[in-house]
Amino acid sequence: MTTVAVIGASRGIGLELARQYAADGYRVHATTRTPDAPGALGNVDGDLHLHQLDVVEDDQITALAEALAGEAIDILIHSAGINAGRGGGSPEITARSMRINAEAPIVTVAALLDGVAASGEKKVAVMSSVQGSGRPRADSPDLYGDSKGELNKRFRAIEPEWRARGITAVALHPGYVRTDMTGAHASLSPEESVRGMRNVLAGLTARDGGRFLDYRGKDVTW
Ligand SMILES: NC(=O)c1ccc[n+]([C@@H]2O[C@H](COP(=O)([O-])OP(=O)(O)OC[C@H]3O[C@@H](n4cnc5c(N)ncnc54)[C@H](OP(=O)(O)O)[C@@H]3O)[C@@H](O)[C@H]2O)c1
Repeated sequence: MTTVAVIGASRGIGLELARQYAADGYRVHATTRTPDAPGALGNVDGDLHLHQLDVVEDDQITALAEALAGEAIDILIHSAGINAGRGGGSPEITARSMRINAEAPIVTVAALLDGVAASGEKKVAVMSSVQGSGRPRADSPDLYGDSKGELNKRFRAIEPEWRARGITAVALHPGYVRTDMTGAHASLSPEESVRGMRNVLAGLTARDGGRFLDYRGKDVTW
């Protein structure tokens, strides 16, 4: 049995990851901020287990790690994120964007790392974006891009520690995907993006650890 954990599975790309892995017979742990009102996630068929997680709530991260203690997690994907906009923002919005997009993926993965290290596949993916390339940049603030650039910086700093535990971790760019975050004009369906990312993850070897890859497996500029 192969086990996948998807952080941020209520909508969009995370929901589609949960749906496709569950449809293919994986055991799926999926997080949502509202497990009592799971929406479309509640209709996903398969070996699906819902967990509550707001990624800015440290006690909820601890509770998730406790709930999954002793469980091997073959593939851990942190998809949760927000797009707080392209321009600069208030200090509050800037802090929230950094907390959710840059800090939470590292903190959440770290909390679940024992389970990944105990698994067969030992793979981790954090959902970044091509908009994080070359960022953060103080001269032209972009809340979203800067937060993803900061995630990339933090990921590159910590990935060698994860690698030392035998884990293969990558940053992913899902493509430009039609979700609530982007709207109907985006070029890819969630199905296409997720199919591509699943292929990328399935093909990862230990040598790929630390790369920034798009949904086709092509390298993205840091
Ligand atoms: N769509 C694209 O074209 C695109 C391109 C590049 C990168 N990405 C990245 O891909 C990831 C998924 O994006 P998406 O397009 O699927 O976005 P989406 O449709 O807006 O979904 C965002 C997901 O993140 C969750 N989330 C937000 N804040 C959270 C928090 N504090 N705690 C827990 N979960 C939280 C949401 O949960 P709720 O339902 O509870 O709000 C939702 O499940 C993001 O990291 C995004 O930056 C997307």
